[in-house]
Amino acid sequence: MLRYNGSMKPPLARGEAPGKIILFGEHAVVYGRPAIAAPVTQVRARAEIFPAATCTVEAVDLHRRVEVARAPADDPFARMVRLVCQALDVPLPPWRIVVTSEIPIAAGLGSGAAISAAIGRAMLAAFAADMPLAELSALVYEVEKLHHGTPSGIDNTVVVYERPVWFVRGQPPEPFAVARPIHLLIADTGIPSPTKIAVGDVRRAWEQDPARLEALFDKVGDIARQARAAIEAGDIAALGPLMDANQALLAQMGVSSPELDRLIQAARRAGALGAKLSGAGRGGNMIALVTEETAAQVAMALRAASARRVLSTTIGPANPS
Ligand code: PMV
Repeated sequence: MLRYNGSMKPPLARGEAPGKIILFGEHAVVYGRPAIAAPVTQVRARAEIFPAATCTVEAVDLHRRVEVARAPADDPFARMVRLVCQALDVPLPPWRIVVTSEIPIAAGLGSGAAISAAIGRAMLAAFAADMPLAELSALVYEVEKLHHGTPSGIDNTVVVYERPVWFVRGQPPEPFAVARPIHLLIADTGIPSPTKIAVGDVRRAWEQDPARLEALFDKVGDIARQARAAIEAGDIAALGPLMDANQALLAQMGVSSPELDRLIQAARRAGALGAKLSGAGRGGNMIALVTEETAAQVAMALRAASARRVLSTTIGPANPS
């Protein structure tokens, strides 16, 4: 991580954005069904802007340095910088934009969207410009298209709005009330899983047998609707079986994996109320619904089942995340 070392001037501006998890509805959301997602504020992407001779983006953790004027059209960092400049109708500024992120990459936690949002926020701060959240989200969505061709828009929405959302593709996000805190553990298989591959495989399965996949998506949509009602009513216990049912449908879509299954089983055996993969699947992260009483034992079981990292997060009124 690049740190201010005294010889550098302090940044002109900073921006940041959180990670995210999908509680219900991944993949089906690409096909118009509703999904529920929430920010994970414990892990964040950050961007800092320093004066420089040319406009560059440096991703310290990725060992990447991109000169925006020379970067190819499909470079995600350069794309975000250009999109913000176009939206504000300004030329490329002479800035060094330094990006760092604690959000694991290709792990279903929305790292790409969070980095774009952090760059956007830092640039807006440096230009002293205001932009409605919907517009910033739309710019991040344009960059998301580089990661996979048909993003639903859920990642950019959650990381830009930074609140739990009920999301239907093509519609404005609906914030909704979380009546009681939802305690979750997020465990990483350690296996990178680019969203593009899982989304492409589901697309091929849908092309081969649209009726089967549409039926799975419909069931996922029903689960998301029931989950929203349970969250609004504070009926947290009802969410466990709904997560398990959603996981079974994701496995039928072909996006689970032995590593995800192992963590999911370990969490359930250790007392989680429910567990499922979160994000694109195949690798990346799973989530387990726990209580304050069961959190420690489930976390221990996840580590014993080879989880690379276990995060704890709470969604809800007690600790809005
Ligand atoms: O892997 P992630 O966090 O980018 O999750 C993508 C979620 C999908 O529903 C699989 C794709 C999408 O665009 O919504």
